[in-house]
Amino acid sequence: MPLLNEPGSYGAITKFFHWIVVLAFALQYAAGYTMTSLARNETALGLTQANFYNWHKSIGLIALLFASFRLLNRHFDRLPNWAPNLTRTEKRMMHDYETALYLAMFLMPVSGFIYVMAGGYGVHFLELAHLPNPIGKRPLLAEIAKWTHILYGYAVLIALAAHMSVVFRHQLVLQDGILWRMLPRRRHRQAASKNPSSITNAE
Ligand code: HEM
Ligand code: HEM
Repeated sequence: MPLLNEPGSYGAITKFFHWIVVLAFALQYAAGYTMTSLARNETALGLTQANFYNWHKSIGLIALLFASFRLLNRHFDRLPNWAPNLTRTEKRMMHDYETALYLAMFLMPVSGFIYVMAGGYGVHFLELAHLPNPIGKRPLLAEIAKWTHILYGYAVLIALAAHMSVVFRHQLVLQDGILWRMLPRRRHRQAASKNPSSITNAE
């Protein structure tokens, strides 16, 4: 599998960043909703509410690092051609929703960080070290950041549902193998041989 994108396919670097960010988002949503519904003295999966908060903050900051690498990769590497079976409307939708998803990769961790720092809660990074607070206690800023975090957290679910509905409509209904464009090459080849009109023929 080539490292960089090619005209007909995504390279290994883009695929790696895509799936690592998917994993981070899945963990963040699961932890976000668990920690906000747990009572202080309750545990889930052997973790206290405080553990969940610490891991949510730490994984969120690591996800921000990956999002930055991913944006650099998208900026400096060329994008592959559109999957040929996408309609004009789907291309526009994909473009708009991908923009909203990139925004989420930055807005979610940054708003979370501003909230906990301006609120005076801090970050016990990986439960190893307390990060310095570059903002200081500012209650109004903390409240704005908190609501940005919560509301954009819900809004991005719409973008995600739209992103996944285009992918799964093509993968499962039209069966043109769009998902293989983001998966390792071995599956990609199987899809091409199974369905000659598959989009993988664009390679
Ligand atoms: C990819 C990054 C992130 C995602 C997707 C994410 C997502 C979420 C979600 C879904 C919630 C639950 C919201 C609700 O109450 O309904 C939440 C809550 C929260 N997040 Fe994040 N988060 C991310 C990063 C961060 C970071 C980096 C921090 C802090 C350093 C942070 C701090 C918090 C806090 C303190 C809450 C509780 C808010 C409340 O009081 O309701 N998050 N997050
Ligand atoms: C299970 C969930 C997901 C699936 C199955 C999925 C699948 C895919 C596929 C197949 C593509 C390639 C589309 C094409 O150009 O042919 C793609 C691209 C993309 N996906 Fe996802 N995706 C998922 C979740 C996410 C999440 C959580 C994010 C970000 C928060 C995301 C952001 C993107 C972006 C920005 C692109 C455009 C390529 C790039 O710049 O990396 N996806 N996705």
